[in-house]
Amino acid sequence: MLNNKEDIYLIIKVRKETRDDYPDVKRVVKAAFEKEFGKDKESTLIERLRQNAVFIPDLSLVAVVGDSVVGHALFFPVVIRSDCERPDALSLSLAPIAVAPDFQRKGIGKRLIEEGLSIAATLGHKSVIVFGHPSYYPRFGFKPAGNWHVKPSFSGVPDNAFMAIELLAGGLTDSSGTVQLPEEFNEAIEAM
Ligand SMILES: CC(C)(COP(=O)(O)OP(=O)(O)OC[C@H]1O[C@@H](n2cnc3c(N)ncnc32)[C@H](O)[C@@H]1OP(=O)(O)O)[C@@H](O)C(=O)NCCC(=O)NCCS
Repeated sequence: MLNNKEDIYLIIKVRKETRDDYPDVKRVVKAAFEKEFGKDKESTLIERLRQNAVFIPDLSLVAVVGDSVVGHALFFPVVIRSDCERPDALSLSLAPIAVAPDFQRKGIGKRLIEEGLSIAATLGHKSVIVFGHPSYYPRFGFKPAGNWHVKPSFSGVPDNAFMAIELLAGGLTDSSGTVQLPEEFNEAIEAM
């Protein structure tokens, strides 16, 4: 039986999502967000983002236990619109991330984030932005994005919940500005 955290952590695999995974990803994301927030906009958001020309299939990741998809994380390209004369900067947004309710708190989110950050760095991306729980993401190295004068485009975000990480030294140097999320995110943000 694979009931304890250590057993599951050992057999969990993180890999690139395939088309065959789409129904399972929808099921997992819907269940996770409905449990956490009582509603789910994110599973539809993922379907829409996959149609966007800048979607990076290598950065849409699933966590699997055996043949079952139990988690998903998406790293999606975003622009940090410069607030001065400098050119805009490119980054990635980590969102959404979800783990099936029965598999939460077993280190699966951690594996998705750590492996996603590693793949993103290998692909040459310089930074990742996340809007999320201030007690969770700092353990992976995320810090308040305000440290680099990087701001969200929407209001009402506590400073410590809007975070960023450099994937290489200086990855956010001279990147001050406002993160422009693709318009597909708007509906999900309005629902928050
Ligand atoms: C957030 C989420 C992806 C974490 O995945 P996970 O596999 O459970 O995370 P891990 O096992 O790696 O880490 C567990 C730790 O995360 C933290 N954590 C998990 N859910 C949390 C929450 N809602 N609030 C604050 N911290 C949370 C806890 O510190 C927990 O540690 P503990 O078990 O020692 O208390 C998962 O809980 C989830 O799917 N939540 C619903 C969807 C969501 O909120 N996504 C994030 C916004 S896009």
